[in-house]
Amino acid sequence: MSADNTSPTRLLVTGAGGQLGRAVMALAPGARGLSHTDLDITDPEGVRKVVGEGDVLINCAAYTAVDRAETEEAAAFAINATGPGVLARVCAEAGARLVHVSTDYVFPGTASQPYEPDDPTGPSTVYGRSKLAGEQAVLEFAPDAHIVRTAWVYTGTGADFVATMRRLERERDTITVVNDQIGSPTYAPDLAAGLLELAAKPAAPRILHATNAGQASWFDLAQAVFTGLGADPARVRPCGTEDFPRPAPRPAYSVLSGNSWAAAGLSPLRHWKLALNDALIAISDYPGPP
Ligand SMILES: NC(=O)c1ccc[n+]([C@@H]2O[C@H](COP(=O)([O-])OP(=O)(O)OC[C@H]3O[C@@H](n4cnc5c(N)ncnc54)[C@H](OP(=O)(O)O)[C@@H]3O)[C@@H](O)[C@H]2O)c1
Repeated sequence: MSADNTSPTRLLVTGAGGQLGRAVMALAPGARGLSHTDLDITDPEGVRKVVGEGDVLINCAAYTAVDRAETEEAAAFAINATGPGVLARVCAEAGARLVHVSTDYVFPGTASQPYEPDDPTGPSTVYGRSKLAGEQAVLEFAPDAHIVRTAWVYTGTGADFVATMRRLERERDTITVVNDQIGSPTYAPDLAAGLLELAAKPAAPRILHATNAGQASWFDLAQAVFTGLGADPARVRPCGTEDFPRPAPRPAYSVLSGNSWAAAGLSPLRHWKLALNDALIAISDYPGPP
């Protein structure tokens, strides 16, 4: 990637120690990755020290504890709203370009067809409101910035949903999973590749959606994990949202449309089932397809 023919664009990644940040760094080893301990995105002086003219900064830093945010509003807004605002101001001052990651939670989650970028927002959680405030700050302060909304991000490791289903498959005979929340499961490395492609496309629209294609309920995703592991998917039983009450209400339907992404000339992300299969293969103890 090059801003012109003489000076190569430098890529910076904030939140580089998180799930998505690590996936971006894995695909862009020449980038400068800044974890939370390296750089606090709410610290303007710290941000000024690292951002230079012509840089592209991919912001993967966020407060992502959706339920805890209901009682930690100030912390959620500091990281998800103030922080992106700081990044946007500094990038605009320095002549750098910001690619900021946002979420399906900015929408009400009550649709019946995939959300387009210009559909009305209306978050119903503190997390969603804080992320929407971050989007607004980015749009206000950085004229060249991009906002990429994504959803249901996983790698299959750590404590994400896919990793949890793998663990429960080993530990339990049957499990019960919510079947009335529909979204777009997204493999972090696929999203990371998309962000890197966007980083080299400054003319793309300011707000974009990027998820793996297709849609699923959590139950569908859990069954697909079991199937991929060679386990009987009938061991996964469906239940309703009311069976798993959470502090932050979950969207019933928050599929994000990939139309804007494809129209911008960006490579569509593959179907979530193909991505899940690769995710399971990438995990070392996976024995291979049944
Ligand atoms: N995961 C999903 O399902 C999902 C869905 C939709 C959208 N998104 C969005 O995708 C992006 C990446 O999420 P993720 O899944 O990679 O989350 P993650 O694993 O929680 O990573 C977020 C990273 O941000 C860091 N961070 C927190 N506060 C910071 C600060 N003030 N300054 C610098 N770094 C800070 C965290 O470090 P510490 O842990 O050390 O605090 C963590 O490493 C976020 O914008 C998120 O809103 C995620």
